[in-house]
Amino acid sequence: MAEKSVGTQSLGIKVEQAYKGKKFRVAFIGCGGISHTHMAALATMPDVEVVAGVDIDPVRLKVFGDKWGVTKLYKDWKKMLKEIKPDGVSVCTPNGVHAAPAIDALNAGCHVIGEKPMAMNPAECERMIAAAKKNKRKLATGFQYRYHPNTQFLKRMRDAGEFGDLMFVKCQALRRRGIPNWGVFGQKKLQGGGPMIDIGVHCIEMAHYFMGSPKPVAASGNIWTYMGNKPSKVVSGWPNWDYKTYTVEDLAIGQIRFNTGAILQIEASFVAHIEKDIWNFSFMGTKGGGQWDPPMTFTDRADTMINSSPFFVGDQASFDALFPMKLRNWIDACTKNTPLEAPGEAGLAVQKMLDGVYRSAAAKKEVVIK
Ligand SMILES: NC(=O)c1ccc[n+]([C@@H]2O[C@H](COP(=O)([O-])OP(=O)(O)OC[C@H]3O[C@@H](n4cnc5c(N)ncnc54)[C@H](O)[C@@H]3O)[C@@H](O)[C@H]2O)c1
Repeated sequence: MAEKSVGTQSLGIKVEQAYKGKKFRVAFIGCGGISHTHMAALATMPDVEVVAGVDIDPVRLKVFGDKWGVTKLYKDWKKMLKEIKPDGVSVCTPNGVHAAPAIDALNAGCHVIGEKPMAMNPAECERMIAAAKKNKRKLATGFQYRYHPNTQFLKRMRDAGEFGDLMFVKCQALRRRGIPNWGVFGQKKLQGGGPMIDIGVHCIEMAHYFMGSPKPVAASGNIWTYMGNKPSKVVSGWPNWDYKTYTVEDLAIGQIRFNTGAILQIEASFVAHIEKDIWNFSFMGTKGGGQWDPPMTFTDRADTMINSSPFFVGDQASFDALFPMKLRNWIDACTKNTPLEAPGEAGLAVQKMLDGVYRSAAAKKEVVIK
């Protein structure tokens, strides 16, 4: 963000000089890839100070400290929480290490924003929510696609009654060839699953938010592994993933039934044999339908079937532009008690859907979501 515009950057510096209030002190647990995107966003906020970083990998920790000028560096989050006493904690560890540091941070009196997915399973999410309630702290799930201008546009249209009752939503997070070749994304024990929990989660969170967050009641689906666990010579932009430790699915297809009767379909893959990558959701309602990318709506007006495209929905649509929005929303909720757009409960609902499809795949039949 800051690199993109000298004007914005210099404005930020001026604001920082003028800012006299108490700063919101944030610590990071997990200083790998995504922590830098969080950090770049926080660095533009004059009322925020990043006071510490925690990582078990000393190289990652040093890179983080050197790049952002953070000098209090730890390998143990419990020690950091005790010594630093931050106001808020950003949890940027792999999925299997979301719940434990989040719960410890909440119990230490910190507000928490966790990365997506909220955790490994609904039981972990419920423990996180209970810790936030007990300690009267804010717990945000790091969903950013609900802030995307296309999502906000479709949400406004839905709220205005343009689509009637939503019956069917199709979410697609499909890569032609894109198994992450860093981190532990191929290890079920540490991640909870593959493309559905890693990238499908984004499309599900924005679609579920758009739908008005109905209650999921049942799931059915299946998962397949056919490529990630084998060596590959195919030329691709994401080569050399760790096939030897790969235990997650390559493709997940699932359907979620809601208490409204609506159905959400999820299609998620790291390695789909399709023309090109797809990142989208589309939907059918009783009065109208539409799609996320490019944003369009399909309705009847004056006895005519009309396909409409918005002229302008907003220009803050890049990956990097969405992070300041989600972090700002969390910080404002912590410091001004404003509403959280993606509270722990939103993370739990999405986790129940992911878990439902995985349970159904294992049981080979539709399963109930409680
Ligand atoms: N919102 C998004 O768009 C988005 C994008 C990428 C990743 N993510 C999420 O962020 C999380 C991290 O992903 P990443 O790409 O940064 O992975 P990463 O592997 O690059 O970074 C994770 C870091 O956590 C550290 N870590 C692991 N166990 C730890 C522990 N016990 N204590 C402290 N540090 C520990 C690792 O050493 C590593 O540096 C994942 O949950 C992922 O799903 C979200």
